[in-house]
Amino acid sequence: MAAYRAALVALSMLAIVEAKPKCKTFADNVVCTAGTSDYELVRGLVSDNNKTTGITLRDCRITDVEYESFNDLNSLTYLDLSMNKIRRLKLGVIDEPKKLTYLNLSYNELTEFPLGLFDQIKNLDLIDLKGNKINKLELGIFDTLPKLKFVDLSSNAFVGKDFNPYIFDQSPHITFMDFSRNNMEDAPENLLHAFQSLETLNLDRCFLSKVPEFATKANLRTMKHLILSTNQITSLDNAATFVNLENLQQLDLTANMLETINPNILSPLKHLQKVDLKNNKIAVIPDNLFKNLPKLITIDLYGNQLQNVPVNALRGIPLKNLNIANNKVTYLQDNFCLELRNSGGKIKKLLFDPNPWQCACLHDLLKEVKRLGIEYNSGKYDGKRPVCVSTSEFTCKRQESVNDLYIEMFNEAKSKYFKQQKKK
Ligand SMILES: *[C@@H]1O[C@H](CO)[C@@H](O)[C@H](O)[C@H]1NC(C)=O
Ligand SMILES: *[C@@H]1O[C@H](CO)[C@@H](O)[C@H](O)[C@H]1NC(C)=O
Repeated sequence: MAAYRAALVALSMLAIVEAKPKCKTFADNVVCTAGTSDYELVRGLVSDNNKTTGITLRDCRITDVEYESFNDLNSLTYLDLSMNKIRRLKLGVIDEPKKLTYLNLSYNELTEFPLGLFDQIKNLDLIDLKGNKINKLELGIFDTLPKLKFVDLSSNAFVGKDFNPYIFDQSPHITFMDFSRNNMEDAPENLLHAFQSLETLNLDRCFLSKVPEFATKANLRTMKHLILSTNQITSLDNAATFVNLENLQQLDLTANMLETINPNILSPLKHLQKVDLKNNKIAVIPDNLFKNLPKLITIDLYGNQLQNVPVNALRGIPLKNLNIANNKVTYLQDNFCLELRNSGGKIKKLLFDPNPWQCACLHDLLKEVKRLGIEYNSGKYDGKRPVCVSTSEFTCKRQESVNDLYIEMFNEAKSKYFKQQKKK
């Protein structure tokens, strides 16, 4: 009986030992892997080593962090606590590693922070809080972090209107800000007013029905990359919307509900290199939309309602990549690519499949892109999936009045094809 009990004690001690994450050190970096059960981080696992510069406790089943867990880590700059189950962080638990610059708390279960949590780690330049359940940031929480550059708040439970606009007042050097997958509708228009050097602003999936004012203020003229994808923006009517963003290089409006675009809305963006308009409802490209944008090389119009892609609308820009696939194009003007090249374009890649092409027009275009060495994506013509449609007359008819006929023929061919696919 005694032997049995001793064995049991030994076994359970073994279980406790194994339950802890296992840590290894390579060149002053400690990397831990999960043990067999959930774990409350305490002093002794990674603490008390003045040489350690990095600690990775990613996916280690950590549920809580006890006081002193990070004591005596005077060289620590990098701390990754991502992908754990931490619900709260007690005031004081990350006071010790004063040299910390990188803190990754992404994919935990955090809901809020006690004011003062970051007061002692004044050198922090990156904080990743993605994928938690945070709905509130206390005013002042970042006030002691004047060096912050990279802030990821994406995929939390924030509500724009609850943001205090003074939350970032002491962190003017933030260059990367990610609010994506939070509801940012009705966020205060002066939310980012303290920023002096923002470069990237991510507002993907933020329930926006218009371009929010806080994203386009005059102090954001340093911005290079603005992401507004997957929202419900229906129109870009106001020509002054982007007037302050003169340094913008990439504008992403993918997957909105854009129908109308003011022809002058892009004209302040003299450094624009790439504009993403895919998966919207654009039926017409205003003639001046892309005019005088001397750096514009990529335009993505995939998945719109375009019947017409006039060379005129694309003149005078160094366009290299154009995507017009999945629209309602049945023809392009004769020598489309050559015309583009003759008017300043440097077209290298043209994606145009699928579209309800007239076979004769597609044939012309294919000949042209092959001759000019332009990369393209013609649909593989296997005689089954429709890539174009033709009447008995094999000539390319370049008149808007014929579009409806070919679009209808194409849709019929397509549904026939899908029915056949289903039968298989
Ligand atoms: C780390 O450095 C501090 C101060 O520099 C010292 O007080 C402490 O004893 C050191 N701890 C270890 C574990 O070496
Ligand atoms: C934070 O950790 C997550 C998950 O481990 C990782 O995907 C992400 O890239 C990290 N963030 C940064 C800014 O390094």
